[in-house]
Amino acid sequence: MHLFTDNRSIGEYLLPLLAEGKTVGLVPTMGALHRGHLSLVNRALSENDVVVVSIFVNPTQFNDPNDFRRYPRNPEQDISILQDRMRGEDAVFHPPVEEIYPEPDTRTFDFGGLDRFMEGAYRPGHFNGVAQVVTRLFEILNPTRAYFGEKDFQQLAIIRHITKDLNIPVEIVACPIVREPDGLAMSSRNVLLTPDERKTAASISRALSRARAMRHKATLTEVKQWVTEQLSQLPDMEVEYFEIVDDRTLVPLSRWQKNKGTVGCIAVKLGKVRLIDNIRFS
Ligand code: PAJ
Repeated sequence: MHLFTDNRSIGEYLLPLLAEGKTVGLVPTMGALHRGHLSLVNRALSENDVVVVSIFVNPTQFNDPNDFRRYPRNPEQDISILQDRMRGEDAVFHPPVEEIYPEPDTRTFDFGGLDRFMEGAYRPGHFNGVAQVVTRLFEILNPTRAYFGEKDFQQLAIIRHITKDLNIPVEIVACPIVREPDGLAMSSRNVLLTPDERKTAASISRALSRARAMRHKATLTEVKQWVTEQLSQLPDMEVEYFEIVDDRTLVPLSRWQKNKGTVGCIAVKLGKVRLIDNIRFS
């Protein structure tokens, strides 16, 4: 496995491989790797000649400076975890900020309304920062495919939208949510939870599963209310939103829809830690 920290070296490494017709699979991450990330890496390894995992805590996507400061960072451990799985021709790209942003990135993106609700509404500027870094990575690495988790459902929709809108020739591959044994969606932020908060956190996915089981017996409004009430009762838990949305437009629904995909998306604050999760209803 190779390790690169600058654009030029990794570009020079990948260019001849792409010219030979080899496929390059990119897994963008912010590090503090867990089994969720590794499921993306495994999928990329099974589908591409060369896999690049990027590790970069992107400053432009953090709307909260405290969140950026406290975000877990462990690049040495990440690199050693990847070393065990990746092949000789695969690579880790771990650039400093100046490589990704030699000058401040002032680009603003149009997400066709996909950012109107949920994370887009609660984290102003977040998706613009995500789009900046992801398009930069695409520009530097020219991947054939790029792998994203359904855990960040709105992020995935937005990345699909911009790659299409900007005509970027990359195939976006969606990967299912990986969970802890008690159901908590894996996240780099889970290590920031206290032991009590960690126990409470299992209620999020439990409430989502029960909500799905209620979908034929209750109205959409009742299900929304039930989830919000259940979770808001728990110690140190604050529900930012629970929306049940159309899986393509991401517009919140007020009644169940037939023959269209429907997903429930939640964000909570548990103590100081913000967690998101989602579940497919249909
Ligand atoms: P990060 O949170 O590190 O996640 C990297 C990728 O792993 C994302 O595509 C995310 O959806 C996926 N992922 C995280 N937890 C997962 C889980 N439990 N199951 C399945 N996939 C999971 O998302 C980002 O970083 C950044 O916004 C990034 C796209 C790298 C841009 O900076």
